[in-house]
Amino acid sequence: MALQQKGMHGTWASRWTFIMAATGSAVGLGNMWKFPYVAGINGGGAFVLVYLGCILLIGVPVMMSEVLIGRHGRQSPVNSMKETVTDSNANSKWRYVGWIGVLAGLLILSFYAVIAGWALDYILLMSSGELQGVNGSGAGAAFENLLASPLRLILWQTVFLGLCVAVVIGGVKKGLGLAVETLMPLLFVMLIILLGFSFFKGNFQAAFDFLFSFNLDALSWRGVLEAMGQAFFTLSIGMGAIMAYGAYMPQDANIGKTVLIVAFFDSAVAIISGLIIFSIVFATPGLEPSAGPGLMFISLPVAFGSIPGGLLIGATFFILVSIAAWSSAISLLEPCVAWLMELKNLSRAKANLIIIFITWILGLGSVFSFNIWSDYSFMGFNFFDFLDFLTANIMLPISGLFITLFVAYVIKSEIVSFEMQGTSGVILNLWRIAIRFIAPFAISLVFIMGVYDNFVS
Ligand code: TRP
Repeated sequence: MALQQKGMHGTWASRWTFIMAATGSAVGLGNMWKFPYVAGINGGGAFVLVYLGCILLIGVPVMMSEVLIGRHGRQSPVNSMKETVTDSNANSKWRYVGWIGVLAGLLILSFYAVIAGWALDYILLMSSGELQGVNGSGAGAAFENLLASPLRLILWQTVFLGLCVAVVIGGVKKGLGLAVETLMPLLFVMLIILLGFSFFKGNFQAAFDFLFSFNLDALSWRGVLEAMGQAFFTLSIGMGAIMAYGAYMPQDANIGKTVLIVAFFDSAVAIISGLIIFSIVFATPGLEPSAGPGLMFISLPVAFGSIPGGLLIGATFFILVSIAAWSSAISLLEPCVAWLMELKNLSRAKANLIIIFITWILGLGSVFSFNIWSDYSFMGFNFFDFLDFLTANIMLPISGLFITLFVAYVIKSEIVSFEMQGTSGVILNLWRIAIRFIAPFAISLVFIMGVYDNFVS
């Protein structure tokens, strides 16, 4: 067994590019759209506390394990997992873990592109000035108009997937690397500007209280499962995106420190987005924090539309969301593309087109669940909600659990010590305790209780 492999896809220019790429993957619709609305539905404070606990005790350790496998295998998640399983003389069934990942990636990308499409549409809608002075019901109607039009949704879904292909086709250095190095700094600047805006123009105090007052009664087991699912989703773990990015990480980069930096950035962006959105919601009469998926798309136009010139800031916000979604979606696409290239010896371009086509077709299901299929439901979910629940709350935790068990108990210890060189002793020991004892137990408990709460009681 060679401890250091050479991959066919190349590596990032530096550790910093990996940080930008992994942060780009992590920071996305999960932070700006999903976190505020899920926190809103689950009552705020207590949910946020459980969520941050999940990030630290489960998310960070699982993420380190994923990067480790990726960097050891230096291929797509499926083959990195296979390589690591072989090198560890483990039962070959472990390699199926890589498969759940690629499948979850396709499913997530399919609905992700539809929501990202809403954000693209809203850039235009906000800049058009049409929503100037709109009230809550007017903004609600504008949002429903968008959802009611399959063609408009498909148009933007297609544009968004096109943007993703444009990046991934360029490969690791000139495509993904270049994109994240440009987009991420831009994203941070825009986020800070919007935070300043909401601080001065919104009800910042109320937003702060809502996110940080710990009212445990508002939280059910289902809420705890959602907090954990959200931790997986937002860190992009449990499906191989981080494994794929880890495969392009330079050998001398320190895994522990790097992952902690990424998790910190990611949580910071989620909290900041929550502060921005809730400051605005609480400053606007008639808007509820528990509005659900439409929270961002209904509340922000009302708030921005009430200030002269505010719609331009609103458009900026949706540009920000689109950029965040874009830098995440490329990480959903890359693992599948890398895998198809390895499997069939295809060119990057061909692999891209095949995967995007499949995703596009699947995405139509999500498009239609907001209009012509909105009456159909399966176990209480429409197609879109079902995919969201299945991937974030079921597939990601299950594959995260197996990745952790594999790295905790099965992988050859030389691989771990080789990849973890440079990670400090304290972090290494905490990580070992977390993946051996805390994460597997916590994931299983939350998973079982959450599913029970959802389907049985
Ligand atoms: N983390 C992204 C977000 O919060 C979404 C995402 C990108 C993702 N890659 C992933 C989720 C891989 C799960 C797995 O929006």
